[in-house]
Amino acid sequence: MNAHQSLAIGQPIERFEAISRAAVESEAMVRFAGISKTYPAYRGKPGVNALENIDFAIPRGSITGVIGRSGAGKSSLVRLINGLEKPTTGHVIVDGRDISALAGRELRLAQRSIGMIFQHFNLLSSRTAADNIALPLEIAGWAKADIKTRVAELLALVGIADKHDRYPSELSGGQKQRVGIARALATRPSVLLSDEATSALDPQTTRAILDLLANINRELGVTIVLITHEMSVVRQLAKEVVVLDAGRVVESGHVADIFTHPKHPITQSFLAEVIGDSLPVSLASRIVAEPSAGGQAVIRLQVRGAGAGDTLVVRLARELGLDVSLLSARIDEIGGQHVGSLVLGIPLGSSGRDDAATRTLAFLSQHQFPAEHLGYVA
Ligand SMILES: Nc1ncnc2c1ncn2[C@@H]1O[C@H](COP(=O)(O)OP(=O)(O)OP(=O)(O)O)[C@@H](O)[C@H]1O
Ligand SMILES: [Mg+2]
Repeated sequence: MNAHQSLAIGQPIERFEAISRAAVESEAMVRFAGISKTYPAYRGKPGVNALENIDFAIPRGSITGVIGRSGAGKSSLVRLINGLEKPTTGHVIVDGRDISALAGRELRLAQRSIGMIFQHFNLLSSRTAADNIALPLEIAGWAKADIKTRVAELLALVGIADKHDRYPSELSGGQKQRVGIARALATRPSVLLSDEATSALDPQTTRAILDLLANINRELGVTIVLITHEMSVVRQLAKEVVVLDAGRVVESGHVADIFTHPKHPITQSFLAEVIGDSLPVSLASRIVAEPSAGGQAVIRLQVRGAGAGDTLVVRLARELGLDVSLLSARIDEIGGQHVGSLVLGIPLGSSGRDDAATRTLAFLSQHQFPAEHLGYVA
């Protein structure tokens, strides 16, 4: 806004308009400014502060993940974007317009440029796939012939041209979500909101739907806001991520940065789910607190960063002269970065003494790999 104000001084009007349009063009697709949302108390139930101090932007053309536990405020946040809820304080700017200030016909018109898909698809069971997709076009007053052409185009876009006349009860979950996506895109929105759209689907179907969303983002330039409680969904699709906890943004940024350097405990716990910081059961059950002769110290180290860990174990073995064994390893590549954990077995020697573990931890700390001593195996 400051840029606009400074431009306004001494600028001819036409020029100001052209520049300010360009500025809006390059701006965020969605901006939350000073948002809080309180659901009021009623019938003896206390009020709920669902969102507090929300200030962030969703870049135009991005796929931005919003992740949080149940009750974190994710759905409240998306309902603010499409104006289904009004903020208690602050403004939600969508595509340069304050959607929180709109009502009636103006709001309905603005909502046509914001599509939404849902966990349970929300299709009308009495309408065929084609007629479900046609619904928003009928509401928008399109001519019959135009609707027909557009629906055929959309069915092809989402890969179910052959399901034109099928009713929802005759479709699989993945196919129903494809109908949901086609319906959401019917009026050519600039933003697509997805509230747990893959949560009811199996992993393979989830992947196919996420691939479809990636294509839509790439081909049509639609900004996608992806609400989820699963880090694996964020990892597969998003470039930006916002971590929500108890109604507040606790961390946000590029997915690759957040995955390699998670700061908040909530983010770390989400991450542990995808990168498998948990030990294989067969190993965990063998770990004890006391060392024994001929046994191994168990050390887990975290691997985060480009090329990290590739040669680490070899160097460790060579430099410390230890016969290191790899008890478990899980490394993923996320946004070009390696993220995961290695569990090493460090031989204690016949005395069962522990200085090999101490030396290993010192070596890892010196090379800036976070590591922890989990105990011993016989
Ligand atoms: N219409 C409402 N009236 C009163 N409280 C509400 C309403 N909608 C949501 N809440 C409360 O606001 C908080 C945030 O809810 P919200 O549905 O936004 O969370 P969520 O992150 O989407 O959770 P989930 O993952 O379970 O869908 C919760 O405490 C919830 O009980
Ligand atoms: Mg929700």
